[in-house]
Amino acid sequence: MPEVVTCRSVTYINNKTAASLTQEEIDLDTCYEDNEIVIHVHAAAFNPVDLLSQGFMCSYLVSSRPKSYGRDYSGVIVRRGKNVDEKWQIGDKVNGAQAFLVGQSGSMSDYLVLNPSKQCSISHMKPINQDIQGKYDEFTFDAAWPLVFCTAFGILTNYGQKFGPDSRILVIGASTAVSNAFVQIAKNYMNVGTVVGVCSSKSVEYNKKLGFDYLATYDEGPLIESVAKVFLRDLQKEKFDLIFDSVGNNDFFPVLDKFLKPRSQNSYYITIVGDGKLKYGSFSAMGTFWMASRILNPFRSYNYKFGLFSPSERAMEIGNKLISEGKYKPAIDSVHPIEDFKEAIDRLSSSRAKGKVVLKINN
Ligand SMILES: NC(=O)c1ccc[n+]([C@@H]2O[C@H](COP(=O)([O-])OP(=O)(O)OC[C@H]3O[C@@H](n4cnc5c(N)ncnc54)[C@H](OP(=O)(O)O)[C@@H]3O)[C@@H](O)[C@H]2O)c1
Repeated sequence: MPEVVTCRSVTYINNKTAASLTQEEIDLDTCYEDNEIVIHVHAAAFNPVDLLSQGFMCSYLVSSRPKSYGRDYSGVIVRRGKNVDEKWQIGDKVNGAQAFLVGQSGSMSDYLVLNPSKQCSISHMKPINQDIQGKYDEFTFDAAWPLVFCTAFGILTNYGQKFGPDSRILVIGASTAVSNAFVQIAKNYMNVGTVVGVCSSKSVEYNKKLGFDYLATYDEGPLIESVAKVFLRDLQKEKFDLIFDSVGNNDFFPVLDKFLKPRSQNSYYITIVGDGKLKYGSFSAMGTFWMASRILNPFRSYNYKFGLFSPSERAMEIGNKLISEGKYKPAIDSVHPIEDFKEAIDRLSSSRAKGKVVLKINN
């Protein structure tokens, strides 16, 4: 007897349409291929890329079929294809982040169908350390970190840099969810000696508690002067091994050699945004142009990379392990029932969220 269920999803059609809650009937016994699993989703988290990818979807370029939001998810496996690796079994609690640009396979749905060998940012959830779990249930907690953790982990491990007690890192955009993961990986997993963050004056105390050694502000005068103060007073002018930009900034380029170690010492400037802050839901041709010109410039005197979400089962396993040891606590800004998806999108769009905006889909 086939099991037909209703699957609700938060969807949009193109960049002119508002989000809505749509539903369809799916047959759980036939909706997957031999190499796929079906996950009953309990929670999913928004990322800015959800709104950015919608921003690309011009009405005259894309179909009128609904496209769903959501990369991050947590839930329980309810079906598995016969060719799926033995380690994924029915009843397993899993969390992860999907890599996809646009389509119908978003995680803000009752059911998510994926091939775990291709969508490899997936792992088994581990018990959450009681000291850090707070008021959140395990599914809410574990939907709140896969994409930002894998992104931050990739920045710290993909470029051949070796970090340790003598390393110095500057993080522009200390309060973002990616930087929240970044500083905890850097301090609690890689033992990086010094991590300096840049944030608004009202976020200084919040970020100090996360592990930043020093904080400079961007709203109390010129950013460079604020970082220079920390550089002279607290770092004795020892330059950075890595400048990581998670917000979209280009202030440092004219003075980069004063702050960043020489290229010959394998130093890097890595951004995950580009030259300018992104306006969620729209596309900036100028910002993309400047970033592309930096990437392609053969005369550049510094290592420059545009870092991307880096799908990785290893990163997921490390994230779950650090959480079980109480060494990584993802920041959760707010939790909304799926019916209140509009509120959640407004919160994400505000650019003021402190941590992930999570949708609770099933209990
Ligand atoms: N390339 C990739 O694969 C990839 C992957 C993940 C994310 N991203 C991008 O990375 C960015 C961050 O994503 P997220 O989800 O971590 O962001 P988020 O959590 O939504 O960031 C919100 C925070 O940004 C801070 N902020 C706002 N304006 C700022 C400014 N001018 N300077 C410094 N901080 C500022 C705010 O704190 P304050 O109080 O300090 O202002 C706020 O709490 C987004 O643009 C996203 O699209 C890219």
